Amino acid sequence: MSDEHTHQNFETRAIHAGNTADPLTGAVVPPIYQVSTYKQDGVGGLRGGYEYSRSANPTRTALEENLAALEGGRRGLAFASGLAAEDCLLRALLAPGDHVVIPDDAYGGTFRLFAKVVSRWGVDWSVADTSDPAAVRAALTDRTKAIWVETPSNPLLGITDIAALADVSRTAGVKLVVDNTFASPYLQQPLALGADVVVHSLTKYMGGHSDVVGGALVTADEALGEELAYHQNAMGAVAGPFDSWIVLRGIKTLAVRMDRHCANAERVAEMLTQHPKVTQVLYPGLPEHPGHEVAAKQMRGFGGMVSFRVAGGEEAAVAVCDRAKLFTLGESLGGVESLIEHPGRMTHASVAGSALEVPGDLVRLSVGIENVDDLLADLRQALA
Ligand SMILES: Cc1ncc(COP(=O)(O)O)c(C=O)c1O
Repeated sequence: MSDEHTHQNFETRAIHAGNTADPLTGAVVPPIYQVSTYKQDGVGGLRGGYEYSRSANPTRTALEENLAALEGGRRGLAFASGLAAEDCLLRALLAPGDHVVIPDDAYGGTFRLFAKVVSRWGVDWSVADTSDPAAVRAALTDRTKAIWVETPSNPLLGITDIAALADVSRTAGVKLVVDNTFASPYLQQPLALGADVVVHSLTKYMGGHSDVVGGALVTADEALGEELAYHQNAMGAVAGPFDSWIVLRGIKTLAVRMDRHCANAERVAEMLTQHPKVTQVLYPGLPEHPGHEVAAKQMRGFGGMVSFRVAGGEEAAVAVCDRAKLFTLGESLGGVESLIEHPGRMTHASVAGSALEVPGDLVRLSVGIENVDDLLADLRQALA
């Protein structure tokens, strides 16, 4: 992050970091530089340091500077999707024979990347309950290069103590990677807690309006940032100028959106705990959640995601999803509109039969920023 922004509060950085007025016109919003190449003033004479938009593009640079400032990191990198960011990170960090510890609860696509893609290149992985630092320590081998954490996790809303795992990873000399998609940097700052790299699906809260797919990596360290930038260019799955611009636009309202997501989700979770058709509510804001104290320590709020289990099993859970009206039935999360889904048959179908398999009676909500009374009424009718 540039020194100019280090003293600023989060909401100010979200609006100003990377968003300098256009030097040519004074436009207060960075333009969409929809361009692939740049005129050189003589061979090698680059005007603004730009030569080809896979390597760098001014609109993407604006987003990357903003991301680094929001996560308190040295380097931000924007990709075509969250999985493209993860793929780049794994190939930069790992070589055949290396081993990674992955969580027993994670986004199904992340698990699929490890289990079906990266493993084919000779990278080994094992699953651990990352909410238990001793279990992670026990899963380390002399070939382990990284510990991967998702907190809160998708879809079970498990909480991992980032500072505790940073101790484990530092002692073992391995990298700690935190997927910060569910929390966003407004609620949680993994690098300040000792993580080496933060991963984002920008598709979710950062974009915030269900209108773009994107991903990001932010590093604590300049050297690792350089290494990842090299791989970003060499592998090529960069964020395009328009996608970068629309994420940058979404981020400006991240703080106010997250406050409302959190407030609405707390009310929804509270209502569900009282409902006779709900057997369990998974939300880190509830005092009975096993990760509540850790979440209260490392997060500013408990987030907008709520999962719950429905009495009557899988078919009953599917029926609730089908009956919801205001909650749109669909994958993804983090947009202003509320979404409902059945992880077992939708987002997490790829983990069926694995250690990450999710219960069939589970429903996941992405609680939006609509009026909460309307949201509660819709859930009550869907559960009736
Ligand atoms: C926690 C988490 N990480 C990563 C991803 C992958 O991101 P993308 O869909 O942008 O590739 C997702 C997508 O749902 C996710 O929920």
